[in-house]
Amino acid sequence: MLVEMIDICKVYPPNVVALKHVDFSLERGEIHALVGENGAGKSTLMKILSGVVKPSFGEIRVNGQRVQINSPVVAARLGIGMVHQELALVGSLRAYENVVLGSEPSRFGLFQPQKSSQMVKELADKFGLKIDVNAITQELSIAGRQKIEILKQLYRNVDILILDEPTAALTPQESEELFDEMFKLRDRGKTIVFVSHKLDEVLRVSDRITVLRRGEKIATVKNDGNIDAVRLAEMMVGKTIRTTSVKKRRPVGHPVLVVKDLTLISKTSGKKLLDGVNLTVHAGEVVGIAGVEGNGQKELIEVLIGLRKPTSGRIEISGEDVTSFGPRQRRPLMAYVPQDRKNVGLALKATIMENLIMTHHMNPPLKKKWLLDRNVAKSFATQLIRDFEIVCRGPFERVQNLSGGNQQKVVVAREVSLNRRLIVLDQPTRGLDVASTQYLRDQMIALRDSDKAVLLVSADLDELMDLSDRIYVMRSGHIVAELDPQVVDKTVVGYHMLGVSA
Ligand SMILES: Nc1ncnc2c1ncn2[C@@H]1O[C@H](COP(=O)(O)OP(=O)(O)O)[C@@H](O)[C@H]1O
Ligand SMILES: [Mg+2]
Repeated sequence: MLVEMIDICKVYPPNVVALKHVDFSLERGEIHALVGENGAGKSTLMKILSGVVKPSFGEIRVNGQRVQINSPVVAARLGIGMVHQELALVGSLRAYENVVLGSEPSRFGLFQPQKSSQMVKELADKFGLKIDVNAITQELSIAGRQKIEILKQLYRNVDILILDEPTAALTPQESEELFDEMFKLRDRGKTIVFVSHKLDEVLRVSDRITVLRRGEKIATVKNDGNIDAVRLAEMMVGKTIRTTSVKKRRPVGHPVLVVKDLTLISKTSGKKLLDGVNLTVHAGEVVGIAGVEGNGQKELIEVLIGLRKPTSGRIEISGEDVTSFGPRQRRPLMAYVPQDRKNVGLALKATIMENLIMTHHMNPPLKKKWLLDRNVAKSFATQLIRDFEIVCRGPFERVQNLSGGNQQKVVVAREVSLNRRLIVLDQPTRGLDVASTQYLRDQMIALRDSDKAVLLVSADLDELMDLSDRIYVMRSGHIVAELDPQVVDKTVVGYHMLGVSA
C-alpha cells in the first residue's frame, strides 16, 4: 500500500465530529474516488492527508512508514498534494508564475521568467494538460485555473494528487477533458484521489470507490461493474432513494413571464451584460437557464427581480408591465429563491418562524390591524416545518443553527407558501446534500404541476436536463439556443454553452 490512513478521527472544536474511526488506503497508480454527501467528511479526510488539518486520533503510513503530516510542506515532501475546492491563485499573474510561485527556479537568487515559463510548458506537455502557460490567470476559465493548480502540484513532483470536487463547476466537455488528463496522469504512475458526489462520473473514472456517510466509512469497493449509481447512492444516504424526479409532460398554459429585448449595459465598463434577451415562461412549465457561470445569468436575475434597471427592453408578469417596478413592487407578483441564501434569503439570527413569516406578515391573517398575530404565526410556521420536512427543534430555533439544506428549505418553504404565479430559483440546490436536493427538485415539479411558472437557473446541467420542459442557453449575455431536453442530449447543451458548434 502506498498510503494507509488508519482509525482516523477528527473533532473540530468545540464538538463537531467530522470523522469517526475512518480507514482509507491508496494503491500506487489508482484513481480512487471518495464519495459522500455534503458534510460527510471527504474534504476533512483529504485535508488530513495533505497536512492542512491535524487528526484528533489515528495513524498515517506512507510506503509502510509511519508519518506525521504536520503541514502541506511535509505532505509535499512525502509526495502528496491537494487541489482544493476553492482555487487560490493570484489572478494578475501569468499561469506559469502561479505554478512556480513559492518554488521559483532561480540562479544566484534571481528569478528567471524565461526558464520558468519553459519548464512549466514542458511539464504541461509531458502530462498532456492543455493550457497556455503564459495566459493571465484571471482571464482563464475555472477549468484552466484548475489545470494551473494541478501543474503546481506536479511541479512540486507529487506522486499523489488529491482533487477535491474538481468537476463541481465544469461543463460536461471540460469534465471529459479533465478525465482524460487524469487517465494520462495515472498512466504516468501518479495516484489520484477524486472527490465527487456525481456518481456517474465516479463510476466512469475510478478504480476503487470509498463511501463516507456522516463521518463514517461505509465501504471501499472495486469499480468492477458490480456496483451501480443506485447502490452507491444508497450507501451514501443510508436509505433507498430515487436519483431523478418523475416528470410527466403536460400542456402549458398562458404566458406568465414575458421578457422582450432586454439589454443591460454596464455603466462602468460599457460592456453589454445582457444583449437583446427574449424569453417566455408559461404557467405549468419549468424553464431552465443554462450557461457557463458569468455569461449574464446573474444580471438576468437581478433585472428580473427589480434589483437593476435594464438599459432597454420590457418585462411583463401576468400581463402587467413591471419594467419600472422596484423589488418591493414586484414582490406581490413573484417568489424568488436566491443563490446567496445566507445573505439575501434569510435573517440568520432570527428564528425559523420569523423567517417563514417574512413577507406574509404584511398580509392577513398574520397581520391583524397593525399587529402580528403570534398564535397564527406559530401554527403557520409549525405547519410549514412539517410540510417541508425542516429538521429543527421547533419554530423558535434560530436559522443559523440549521444545516445548509435545512436553511434552504426555510427559504423555499416561505417562497412556495407565498403562492405566486411566478417563482424564480437561482441555484436552489447548490451545496445541498442528496436528500435535500431531491426534495427541492420534487418541490419544483410540484409547483409546475400546480400551474405555476417556474424559472430555474442552475449550473448543474443534470438538474436542468431532469427538471426543465425547455432550456434556454445563455452565452455572453445572449440567449444562444432554446432546447428541448427530451430531444437533445446534454452534450449538445454543453456545446452551446461553450460556443462550439455540434
Ligand atoms: N474548519 C471547520 N470547523 C468546524 N467544523 C468543520 C470545519 N470544516 C468542516 N467542518 C464540519 O465537519 C463536517 C465534515 O465537513 P467536510 O469534511 O467539509 O465534508 P465534505 O467535504 O464531505 O462536504 C461537517 O459537519 C462540517 O460542517
Ligand atoms: Mg468538501
